[in-house]
Amino acid sequence: MKVLIVGSGGREHAIAFAVAKSPKVDKIYCAPGNAGIGQIAECVNIGAMEFEKLAQFAKEKEIDLTVVGMDDPLVGGIVDVFEAEGLRVFGPRKNAAILEGSKAFSKDLMKKYNIPTAAYENFDSPKAAMEYLETSKYPIVLKADGLALGKGVLICNTKEEAMDGVKELMLDRKFGSAGNTIVIEEFMTGREVSVLSFVDGKTIKIMTSAQDHKRAKDGDQGLNTGGMGTFSPSPFYTEEVDEFCKKYIYQATVDAMAAEGRAFQGIIFFGLMLTDEGPKVLEYNARFGDPEAQVVLPRMKNDIVEVFEACIDGNLDQIELQFEDNAAVCVVLASDGYPVSYEKGFEIKGLENFDTKEGYYVFHAGTKRDGDKIVTNGGRVLGVTAKGADLKEARANAYEATKLIDFENKYMRNDIGKAIDEA
Ligand code: AMP
Ligand code: GLY
Repeated sequence: MKVLIVGSGGREHAIAFAVAKSPKVDKIYCAPGNAGIGQIAECVNIGAMEFEKLAQFAKEKEIDLTVVGMDDPLVGGIVDVFEAEGLRVFGPRKNAAILEGSKAFSKDLMKKYNIPTAAYENFDSPKAAMEYLETSKYPIVLKADGLALGKGVLICNTKEEAMDGVKELMLDRKFGSAGNTIVIEEFMTGREVSVLSFVDGKTIKIMTSAQDHKRAKDGDQGLNTGGMGTFSPSPFYTEEVDEFCKKYIYQATVDAMAAEGRAFQGIIFFGLMLTDEGPKVLEYNARFGDPEAQVVLPRMKNDIVEVFEACIDGNLDQIELQFEDNAAVCVVLASDGYPVSYEKGFEIKGLENFDTKEGYYVFHAGTKRDGDKIVTNGGRVLGVTAKGADLKEARANAYEATKLIDFENKYMRNDIGKAIDEA
């Protein structure tokens, strides 16, 4: 088979790595890809939002399966364009990717189908939002409705902060049209867990759990980022939590989407908060997490291409997902200054150390080839992942492995997986 992967981050590298293990696959292309993906796939210089060009390429090269890793093209309708051309593609159509693309939609869906989530109201007028805030309880959470690179969520401790937030999102339009509508929701406390799943429109199969570290600095300080590191499984995702979510959240979401005429085929990523009142949905994503994929996929035993195909063909009920009985930790190596401003173009040394190291992976995020060197090319540069018999061993291995890599302005959090000690 020939497979095309759409995207260019650490997540897509982890997907490419999993696809490359499938005995069914002879050739992988990735658009646009990065330097690490280029070692296992042929990178194609077409942007992820150039749907027509991508579909044309897939036809020319007789691609058997396209896998879309990123949210923007999914929300923008890439799957519909591919399907209209008769191409096989893994991911939700536009009318289902709205589960991630509009927070107002997903909140209304959860309310309508009694799926546990924070209490909320949607607003499309700043005046009404500000009136509501006059009598609200604080802290409170403001969310831009649309995609905002994970940065459209504001936790406001006071009325003043919340009023400023409404101004930023709706009047100053910091995230453009993503802030035309905002969700104002109740502030919840608890541990966060990321649960990824495969969905074929009606059946859902849950992958092993993970936890992300979204803030830039140790101790969950600093700004929100795309994710500074992950571990899998989460020791807080107990059997009791799993049972609750299976009963009230997972299948309920898939059934709700089908009932709305928006059958979901692809990945649903459940961002959960384990509150005192039980697990609640913080958000849905319509794709693998980044860097969750970097710790979940190396532990998956199935042939991922078989699972992708079962989702497309609607026979996921025939598949049993299997994960290794071990753990993995991913530490993101970033450029100092991320997520605000940082320099690029520094040579990365030591990558070859991972070539033959069983159970260790270096997933590229922001890298590019410069002659025979590989240089930094983004805020998040690499995801160093290691497995271990348990979480503590995996964490020690991952931090040990970060020492094998060197580049100027290398920055990482030193407390990825600290929560493990509290389990
Ligand atoms: P989201 O993009 O909706 O996952 O939000 C980003 C982050 O903001 C989450 O991972 C949480 O840490 C935090 N967050 C979002 N919604 C809430 C909420 N209702 N209560 C507390 N924290 C929240
Ligand atoms: N790691 C969080 C996300 O992918 O949205």
